[in-house]
Amino acid sequence: MKKNKKINIAIVGLGNIGLNLYLHLIKNKKTIIKKNNVNFDVKYVSAKTIHKKRKIKIPKKKWLTNFIHASKLKDIDLVVELIGGADGAAKKLVFNCLKNKKHVVTANKALISKYGDQLALLAEKKKVNLEFEAAVAGGVPIIRTLKEGLIANKASKVYGILNGTSNYILSNMDKMNFKSVLEKAKKLGYAERNPKSDLNGEDVKSKIQILSSLAFNSFIIKSNINIEGINNIDEVDIKNAEILGYKIKHLGLSEIENGKLIQCVHPCLIKKESRISNINGVLNAVIVEGKPIGKFVLQGEGAGPGPTTSALVSDICSVLRGNIKFPFAVSHLNRKKITSIDLSNKMFSSYIRLDVIDKKGVLSSITKIMSKNKISVKRLIQNPLRGKKFASIVIVSHKAKNKNLVKCINELKKNNFILKNPKFIRIEEI
Ligand SMILES: NC(=O)c1ccc[n+]([C@@H]2O[C@H](COP(=O)([O-])OP(=O)(O)OC[C@H]3O[C@@H](n4cnc5c(N)ncnc54)[C@H](OP(=O)(O)O)[C@@H]3O)[C@@H](O)[C@H]2O)c1
Repeated sequence: MKKNKKINIAIVGLGNIGLNLYLHLIKNKKTIIKKNNVNFDVKYVSAKTIHKKRKIKIPKKKWLTNFIHASKLKDIDLVVELIGGADGAAKKLVFNCLKNKKHVVTANKALISKYGDQLALLAEKKKVNLEFEAAVAGGVPIIRTLKEGLIANKASKVYGILNGTSNYILSNMDKMNFKSVLEKAKKLGYAERNPKSDLNGEDVKSKIQILSSLAFNSFIIKSNINIEGINNIDEVDIKNAEILGYKIKHLGLSEIENGKLIQCVHPCLIKKESRISNINGVLNAVIVEGKPIGKFVLQGEGAGPGPTTSALVSDICSVLRGNIKFPFAVSHLNRKKITSIDLSNKMFSSYIRLDVIDKKGVLSSITKIMSKNKISVKRLIQNPLRGKKFASIVIVSHKAKNKNLVKCINELKKNNFILKNPKFIRIEEI
């Protein structure tokens, strides 16, 4: 063991993740020391309410009365931020820690996607580490893989299933409706009490922004991201997709096309045979396409205390082993500004479901509006509903520009024969 070397750690935030990490570090201290050949101690902890009843007892002497002391005390080398949220306490703590030359490990995707560029520059200036493996895809070690394992590659695309809650819901909607699956997910602890950011795509947005900047050595690009969640997917769409040979998955996607970055988050139909269509339940998967590697897939548990602790310990070990690494793999000076574009001109085949009044002329009106918007029909299924007064028309379109597809849906919506908001889901060829 390196003589006299001991790293003192403070864990700030003792919720789901923080408490589990604390326990893991205490129980596995000897092994971690052996593996890294460096001594360490979890010297301090902090949370919002000191006197809250917690699952385990933490010695009084370890408690900081104010979380911000973690950024000031001389006998702290590494702070693990597990508060969460892009602003407020987490932001204050991490900026102050780096300013005061303390290494930081965080699982906070919201913070990194919002302030990652500034934080990385600060860490680089102060010659400390800022590690965030747990911020994307939980236990799937995609950050370190992009920074180290795939260093030889020029990536062209990175995408994946990045939210376990929405993947669990979509994987189970062939048996139950959205509401019932969500309730079940909450009971099983797969969904938070307020799962808004899991369901509306915001959570995946942060993750794909972080992955993009690592894959393409760019600053975090915040503009032109099309974000859609899974809130609008119905049971019947899952069943229709199945009949058509597809599965519906919620993906974060980022790619470089003609030198421009396209980032988006949306539910999409993907061929049943595709590898990613068989990633079910709470699993996450990340795919990187690049040269010379070709297509590279990593999959595993995307959230929860166990997988997240695995990623956090990997970051802590990286700090214990020494050497200052650039938070986004390359120096601030070598990160690029890439122009981003929105989906407008990107070509997609699409799934369109229209619940209509079943009367003469409706189908021809629909195809007229489609052809006016330069969209042609590849497949069409018409299912009569309730005594043939109504019908559900499912159309798979040939490829068309996204802007035309969106315009077409908006035009269709305005017609009296359309009973409900049309469903429009893009088809991804992956
Ligand atoms: N849960 C997951 O599966 C998962 C997976 C990957 C990443 N993450 C990330 O991990 C982080 C922590 O998540 P979590 O699920 O453990 O959250 P959590 O259960 O809500 O815990 C948050 C902790 O932060 C403390 N805290 C809140 N405000 C504070 C303040 N102003 N000052 C000091 N401490 C404060 C809370 O203190 P009290 O206990 O006293 O209330 C609590 O201990 C988040 O960034 C999250 O995005 C979570």
